Formats: sequence, C-alpha cells, structure tokens
Amino acid sequence: MRSHGCLTLSESKARREAPNVLTLLMRRVTTRPATKSEIRTMKIAVLPGDGIGPEIIEQAVRVLNALDEKFEMETAPVGGAGYEAAGHPLPEATLKLAKEADAVLFGAVGDWKYDKLERALRPEQAILGLRKNLNLFANLRPAILYPELAGASTLKPEVVSGLDILIIRELTGDIYFGQPRGMRECPDGPFKGEREGFDTMRYAESEIRRIAHVAFQAARKRNKRLTSVDKANVLETFQFWKDIVTDVHKEYPDVTLEHMYVDNAAMQLVRAPKKFDVIVTGNMFGDILSDAAAMLTGSIGMLPSASLDANNKGLYEPSHGSAPDIAGKGVANPLATILSAAMLLRFSLNKAEQADRVEAAVKKVLAQGLRTPDIYEEGTTKVGTKEMGDAVVQALAR
Ligand code: IPM
Ligand code: MG
Repeated sequence: MRSHGCLTLSESKARREAPNVLTLLMRRVTTRPATKSEIRTMKIAVLPGDGIGPEIIEQAVRVLNALDEKFEMETAPVGGAGYEAAGHPLPEATLKLAKEADAVLFGAVGDWKYDKLERALRPEQAILGLRKNLNLFANLRPAILYPELAGASTLKPEVVSGLDILIIRELTGDIYFGQPRGMRECPDGPFKGEREGFDTMRYAESEIRRIAHVAFQAARKRNKRLTSVDKANVLETFQFWKDIVTDVHKEYPDVTLEHMYVDNAAMQLVRAPKKFDVIVTGNMFGDILSDAAAMLTGSIGMLPSASLDANNKGLYEPSHGSAPDIAGKGVANPLATILSAAMLLRFSLNKAEQADRVEAAVKKVLAQGLRTPDIYEEGTTKVGTKEMGDAVVQALAR
C-alpha cells in the first residue's frame, strides 16, 4: 500500500515526517498498478535458524510456494546454525543476502549449547545484528485471540475473548544498544573497586518521534486509542520519551493518548487486556510486555511479528523462540511463521490479497478443528507441524 489517496494537510505533513511503514498498517489495501520494482521477481531471504526454526520455516515456504506468485527465495544459516557454518551467528554472506532481499523470513535462533560462548558469538546476536544493520526500528507484535482458541488461554475466557491488541516496540535503541556498556571496576559509590556490569539506557529525540508516528498512525487505523508505556516516575530516558510522545500527539488530535507506567501496564495487561488498543513502548519494556500479551492468547505459537524499517522493508518472524526442547519432533506449531509470511506479503511485498488468502486459510484450518499440541484441547484433532502445513496449503486452494 503506497497509494495514499486524499490526505488532509496535517496527515500529509505527518506522513512526510513519518516513515512509510505507517501507511501499511491498514487492514485493507487499495489496489494500484504495480511499480517497476514489483514487476521484477521479489526476493525473500529465508533464515531458518535453530531449534524448531527449520521445521516451521519449511511450512511457511510451502505456503508461499503454493500461492500463484513467483518469488525468489534464498536460504542462509543464522544463529547457532550460522556459527556452525561460518563461525559467526550472523555470517557476512547471510547479512548481505538479508540486505539485498526485499524481505526476510526468519525462523528462530538459540540453543542451550551455545550459552557458554562469548556474547558476541551467541545466537541472539544474529537477530540483534539484523535489526540494527537493517534499521528495523518498528516492531509490530499483534496479540489476537482467535475465537476457536478462547479456551487455550490461562485467563478466563471473558477476560480475553475478542482480544485484539497491537504492541509496537521500538527495536533499535534503548538499553539494548546504548553505549557504553560492559564490565569493569566500579568507579564510585558504596561498591567502588568491586567488579560491576553496566548498560546504558538512552533514546534520541528522532528515535522516539519516528516510533511515535508509527504508533499514532496505527492507532488511527484501528480504534484510535494509544497507550504509551514508560517509567517516567524513575527514569530520565522515559520522562523524555513521555514528553516527546506527548508532543507528537499534537499532530494526531483524533487519537486518544494515555500514558502508563510499565509496572501498571504489566498488571493491566493481565487484569483487563481488552482495554488496550495500541501500545507503544521502548525496546526493553516492549520485549517483556509483548511476551505477556502473547500469553494472553493462549499460545505464543500463533503470533506473528514484523520488524520494519522506514521503507517497508522488513524482517518477519514468529513471536516465539527456537524451543530446542521440541526441535526435530515434528510437533511445533507452524502457524505463527505462516502468519508472519502473510505479514511479509502485506507489508513488504505489497500483496495484500495474497496475505488475506493466507490468513483466511489459517482461520479455516482452525475452524476445521486442527491443532498442534500447544493449542490442543479435547474435542479437537491433534496434528503435527507438517500436517498443519499441509492443511493450510490445502485450504489455500481456490
Ligand atoms: C525477542 C527476543 C529477543 C529480544 C532476544 C532473542 C534477543 O526475546 O525478539 O523478543 O530480546 O529482543
Ligand atoms: Mg522477547
């Protein structure tokens, strides 16, 4: 979706300042003639990674191949697999492929066996490196409860039924990337002279502004309510965050903005999650809150995510991790990855119709009663990873 139709003055100003990613959050997308760049075959970098990554990616690739579209797909190792293949979790060739591609489909990284490696070589560095190198600053993590899965949540059905919230997590700043950081001899205070570990929490104004624009525009396309989560009562970084978000709000008078401290937000997410529409927050709080939000839906195995740059290029990955405990057993739920592929089609490849088809196919298999073990309930049919992929491919048939 890159055709804007009629914009009001303030909207067009906001869009000029704000990244394109904002315009892509519409549920439905206007059709317009394909641009030159879309006539060439779009390239998808496929990075399966570790644990259950390869199994779930295999099913998502099958789904993409079952669409009547031509994509160029190229696979490369990442995470522990990258370390095994090239001595680094994000091998140079993998990063190059990710940079050249129009979009990245990512499985998961991490395995206990790499926990003893020095930090720079651990699998997690692959995803952090991709986010930073590709400038994927806007992480969209929807938490949607499919009606068929209402019983899978650990919360009472009335608390979560109909849940549809969107967490927008800033992804390239905050304490995750702030310098300086490290381990050293404590230079001052009551523990002076001891060894200490330290990190730096920081946000520049433009970093906050661009993610705030993403969030306001997303809220505008939904129920027009935005909650900005901070810790302004304690942290300077997040007092600044709150001030800047409040300033950006002036450009979106039609959206209701609320500020909430992160501890309260964690509590409200499990107490009355349906009160939220869009949540925007920093990298670390977003990491924590998005896991909590995912669990409201009963299965993190169902939730896709998109990490976008300012030009709609993105990395798409399931919200769950590599689950090494069930790797290779053929029981992992491939639906979050398949739904991530749908987000990839929608946001980076401008193929909304195909994205709709994939999402409809997933709903269909759920309605048919098919369930991987993580979402299994009595009265439904337990299937494995491949059977679930088969069912989605079949449901795609027109
Ligand atoms: C996530 C993960 C990552 C993060 C890890 C694997 C580095 O927890 O995507 O939420 O902390 O961002
Ligand atoms: Mg996380």
